[in-house]
Amino acid sequence: MAVSTPPRAPAPLAAHHLTKRFGQRVALSDVSLDVRVGERLAVIGPNGAGKTTLLAILAGVLAADEGSVSRETRALGWVPQQPAVYSKLSVAENLRLFARLERVADPEAAVGRMLEQTGLRERADDELGRLSGGNRQRVNIAIGLLADPPVLLLDEPSSALDPRQRERLWELIEGQASAGTSIVFSTHIVGEAERYGDRVLVLADGELVFTGTPEDLHAQEPAAARDFEAAFVAFLRARGH
Ligand SMILES: Nc1ncnc2c1ncn2[C@@H]1O[C@H](COP(=O)(O)OP(=O)(O)OP(=O)(O)O)[C@@H](O)[C@H]1O
Ligand SMILES: [Mg+2]
Repeated sequence: MAVSTPPRAPAPLAAHHLTKRFGQRVALSDVSLDVRVGERLAVIGPNGAGKTTLLAILAGVLAADEGSVSRETRALGWVPQQPAVYSKLSVAENLRLFARLERVADPEAAVGRMLEQTGLRERADDELGRLSGGNRQRVNIAIGLLADPPVLLLDEPSSALDPRQRERLWELIEGQASAGTSIVFSTHIVGEAERYGDRVLVLADGELVFTGTPEDLHAQEPAAARDFEAAFVAFLRARGH
């Protein structure tokens, strides 16, 4: 008897041959990818590699010159490095404002749900500008999640945080992933790509030079012993980056 395998859920997000130029500069060159349901995809690469450009195109806030993005009909969640939040408004007021801007069906319920999920209930009435960096970043993520998106895109979500806040932040993101939200994040802390990425995408000078598991990437440079970051640097160096 034939064993039937369950049908694979369609990718909630896929990009096909994306190219983006800024004047003469090619920021992204022929990049294709897909993201699976509940998958955590890490995007790493040197400064100027095109990570932010790629995420912004996937989020739909920047247009590609060539190529296309297929998304689910629901909007994606987008957490840019510098979100447009209002520091004079409270946490809850910011969430309410963005819930309305995004035309969330029941804004109050969404705000309540996000205050719970992010552990910010007690800070709901605090002015955003007075929060710690870690809590502010939780608000940014809450805004990205207000519309319950199938995919959450985060650009260097932990870059300004201390190790303890970083850990808390990843607990929040991991919780979302295990509830089925796909996560795409960029980071310069390559240990986070190793720890939290099911797959890693390496960009260099706008080109996609690697897609695979962190173990696969490490295996490309076995001389780099157990250190993933050293393997990543050796991988780039061997390819002239
Ligand atoms: N608005 C813009 N105008 C002109 N050039 C841009 C613009 N945005 C990005 N670039 C250029 O495109 C390239 C890719 O930039 P991008 O910000 O995507 O890289 P990145 O990988 O996110 O870098 P970083 O690690 O420093 O954040 C860089 O050469 C950058 O200078
Ligand atoms: Mg960037």
